[in-house]
Amino acid sequence: MSKIYYIPQDEEQKDLLQLDSIMQEKRASERLIVLLLGSGGRESAMAWRIATSPEVEQLYIAPGNGGSEIYGINVPELSGKDFDAIADFIASHGVNLLVSGPEEPLVQGIADYFAERKEDFPQLMVVGPNAQGAQLEGSKDFSKAFMQRYGIPTASYRTFAANEKSEAVAYLQTLHPPFVLKADGLAAGKGVLIVPTLEEAAEGFDDLADGIWGTKGQKIVIEEFLQGIECSIFVATDGVNYKILPAAKDYKRIGDGDMGPNTGGMGSVSPVPFVDEAFVEKIRQRIIEPTLQGLQDEHIEYRGFIFLGLMNVKGNPYVIEYNCRLGDPETETVMLRISSDVALLLKAIANGTLNEYTLSEDPRPAASVMLVSRGYPGSYKKGYEITLPDPPHDTCLFHAGTRKLDGKIVTDGGRVLSVSSYGATPEAALKRCYTIAQQVLFEGKNYRHDIGQDLL
Ligand code: AMP
Ligand code: GLY
Repeated sequence: MSKIYYIPQDEEQKDLLQLDSIMQEKRASERLIVLLLGSGGRESAMAWRIATSPEVEQLYIAPGNGGSEIYGINVPELSGKDFDAIADFIASHGVNLLVSGPEEPLVQGIADYFAERKEDFPQLMVVGPNAQGAQLEGSKDFSKAFMQRYGIPTASYRTFAANEKSEAVAYLQTLHPPFVLKADGLAAGKGVLIVPTLEEAAEGFDDLADGIWGTKGQKIVIEEFLQGIECSIFVATDGVNYKILPAAKDYKRIGDGDMGPNTGGMGSVSPVPFVDEAFVEKIRQRIIEPTLQGLQDEHIEYRGFIFLGLMNVKGNPYVIEYNCRLGDPETETVMLRISSDVALLLKAIANGTLNEYTLSEDPRPAASVMLVSRGYPGSYKKGYEITLPDPPHDTCLFHAGTRKLDGKIVTDGGRVLSVSSYGATPEAALKRCYTIAQQVLFEGKNYRHDIGQDLL
């Protein structure tokens, strides 16, 4: 026979119990229902950290990929371009936190769209700058002029219209080789030319002006070549406060020894040995703080990530480019190196409460090796079945160009999957990545064998 225990409660206790249940209800209603836009390795890594937060009730990934369903629910029919469809989805699924992985929705104004519809979506928090802020990435001419206005170190430059070839050539003659030419707008990483001779630079100007990479009609930025080692610094900001995420370095070219054409990224490592305290202090004082001040002075509200592509020129940081989002494949490594709650980081960015958030770093080094399809970044075939090992606990397999087909995972892009791992040392992290990279099997698998070697 079971006994019923009567627990006497005085008035004060009853009040406390009631308060407790109100708080619990409130907490439940404050739990995050997240919509993450994107489908790459970066979004898989973000999804992993969002999904493992106790603050998150549900995560939707739109469109997602063949592996992202481990972390949440894919929404394959939802495109980052269709803001009305995104709004309908947010309304019907109670989404209260919207995050864009890639830059396009931001450059196209998704944050402005929801700012204008604030009355329809009073609960919605948005991570990512408005279209004006996203111009830091969306227009090289804008970002170079911005840096010049605020004295932020960057390569000297001039901007030309497509019909100003003779002026451009005269400017090129004042520079030393190699010559750097860039289309003004987004060109999926293809709008940058670095060539050794004046003749090639002049031809490159014509190519950019003719729009062979979809850059027709865009202005052309010509700039001084900076000699040094690159690194990527991600700054989370709510417009006033900021936090610097663990530094990373990515490897852009397809071949070992940094040979061959540029790709969307072949691997990354974190930390970066030369990004020490003194270097970070220079980045803070010379780049991050003037950048945030500049945004404020120009009344550009910026709640999101600022990605600084930096060149270390003899111990001094120069900005090669800004991006208005996290980087790929750096994020696959950086997410391993953040030990505090990433969902709460996103919430604090959107809410303007980043000063209350404590960012903690995992001291262990981490690395990522991207497995790609044979032929990439040129043409390649898709649809090959992928066999995945059971990764050890310190390794993540972040899907990028994959999809599910008849219950199997198949290749569906050039950059297929990132093997990302911790290690007690950078060497150990890389060794673990390469061991697992061998165990992932698909037809035409290719990867770089020298990720991180230049830093060891
Ligand atoms: P961007 O799209 O501006 O980041 O340029 C792509 C890549 O080209 C960079 O990551 C650098 O490796 C290289 N690059 C761009 N601008 C310069 C520059 N001024 N000096 C040296 N390398 C550059
Ligand atoms: N890893 C460089 C980028 O994401 O643009």
